[in-house]
Amino acid sequence: MSGFAADWLALREPVDHASRNPTLAARVRAHFGGRDALTIVDLGCGTGSNLRGLAADLPPRQHWHLIDGDAALLRRARESLADWAEASHEDGERLRLRRDGREIVVSFERADLTRRDLDFTALGAELVTAAALLDLVSESWLERLVAALAVAKLPLYAVLNYDGEAEWQPADPLDGRVIAAFNRHQRGDKGFGPALGPASSEALAQLLRQHGYRYGSLPSPWVLGPTEADLIGALTDGFAQAAGEIEPERQAAFAAWAKVQAGAHMVRIGHRDVFGHF
Ligand SMILES: C[S@@+](CC[C@H](N)C(=O)[O-])C[C@H]1O[C@@H](n2cnc3c(N)ncnc32)[C@H](O)[C@@H]1O
Repeated sequence: MSGFAADWLALREPVDHASRNPTLAARVRAHFGGRDALTIVDLGCGTGSNLRGLAADLPPRQHWHLIDGDAALLRRARESLADWAEASHEDGERLRLRRDGREIVVSFERADLTRRDLDFTALGAELVTAAALLDLVSESWLERLVAALAVAKLPLYAVLNYDGEAEWQPADPLDGRVIAAFNRHQRGDKGFGPALGPASSEALAQLLRQHGYRYGSLPSPWVLGPTEADLIGALTDGFAQAAGEIEPERQAAFAAWAKVQAGAHMVRIGHRDVFGHF
């Protein structure tokens, strides 16, 4: 298990899709426009949200290779992609889907990305993508990834990287303290060594520059209101829990803060999307 509950990923999926930066999404669409087919590798795919969010921007025939370390999430990905499709059938280990005029073949790979070879050329990759992953990884792992992609001149589209900005309305005097502690927690080890956390988009931009990529980095914040009350409640609890691990003496205060701020009428969580290509 990775610790990422399928229910949490399901709760955030509609907001993740709506929050993707539209300018960068249009750039991705234009970059691959005119092509008939594309092979895409999705790193840390979870239950397949990135495929569902991106397929409409990519060519009519797509082959997705989904990689995750969590077998249970990969099983959920297979089920939820079959449900999402207008038609689906198993083809050996692969899944063949039809949706919105697109023919989508999906392969699944269980692998620990900290150990796996990051050369995806053997898979025929033409685009590597990741959603809500790069803030978990370490600087040295990201360096390895970008170096491997640059050798093969592979584009990278990394969306929804947390940028350290968070806001609750109405504001509470403890907001700043919780956010600061949460952001320190984000820099802890999430399996890849010390995580980049809020620094991931800037670190990625710098690496893309060094390796000669052209790139764009644009905001993709969650802006949540009363219709996302469940997500507000869950993420506010998550902030308080993580902050409490950093400042154990304030656990009770942070828990009390979460009870109040779970009722906020607006929450904004900053993310950035990055698209790099040659
Ligand atoms: C925040 S979730 C995002 C999932 C999905 N991309 C989405 O947008 O819903 C991060 C994902 O990365 C996966 N992951 C974390 N560390 C990993 C590792 N070392 N190897 C492979 N997958 C990993 C988790 O299992 C989880 O599915």
